[in-house]
Amino acid sequence: MGNSARKYKRASSAEHRPYVIKGKLVGLKTLHKDDATVATPLFQNMELITYLSTRRRPETVESEAAFFERALKQEEGELQFGIFELKSDRWIGGVSLRDIQPNNHATLGVAIADPKCWNKGYGTEAVRLMVEFGMFFLNLHNVRLGYFGYNARARRAYEKAGFKEVGRFRGTILLAGKRYDDIWMDITRDEVDLSRMWAMVPMIK
Ligand SMILES: CC(C)(COP(=O)(O)OP(=O)(O)OC[C@H]1O[C@@H](n2cnc3c(N)ncnc32)[C@H](O)[C@@H]1OP(=O)(O)O)[C@@H](O)C(=O)NCCC(=O)NCCS
Repeated sequence: MGNSARKYKRASSAEHRPYVIKGKLVGLKTLHKDDATVATPLFQNMELITYLSTRRRPETVESEAAFFERALKQEEGELQFGIFELKSDRWIGGVSLRDIQPNNHATLGVAIADPKCWNKGYGTEAVRLMVEFGMFFLNLHNVRLGYFGYNARARRAYEKAGFKEVGRFRGTILLAGKRYDDIWMDITRDEVDLSRMWAMVPMIK
């Protein structure tokens, strides 16, 4: 194998992916199909699944691999990153911008899949990194997100990341016969400090 082939193999392997952005606690990397192996056991947890609008049942090896297959295509209008804990360089979840619109808004989704990593500030930082990335490199003006009324932790994390509630679809979420609101929040470009993104392109003023 030649030098460049070896370099390519290294860069495209799951372990050797570089960070696209780093915060203080977590960083974002592009997705890799091998992350599905780490994700599958974590997506057996019904508490985690009950917070998510994109999932309804425990994942099988095949369904999780299919989820990654779809995401890996990076379809137009969508951007997904893996969230990695910096101190262990370990995949702990994912963050995405979906429905990226020509008039510069998009919908954010986030899941820290490993419950051992909840309440450590990781989700707040991952959301901030994704918002800054979207506003800087994708020129987004507005990022919106929704959460289910029973997810108090998500609300607090989103508030810490600078999101404000814009409204709620009352009683649209049904769990064990009980109804909860589907609550939406947003953040606009003038509310976000982009200096961390400017530092990624040092030659450009
Ligand atoms: C929601 C999520 C992204 C938040 O990330 P996180 O790293 O756990 O959250 P953070 O540590 O950044 O912040 C959580 C905050 O909520 C607070 N919190 C935790 N449980 C709470 C509760 N029951 N009620 C109110 N606040 C709560 C924490 O104390 C912390 O606030 P503080 O820093 O002021 O003390 C993450 O927990 C997660 O992915 N959960 C599972 C999937 C999910 O819910 N995804 C979002 C779907 S909309």
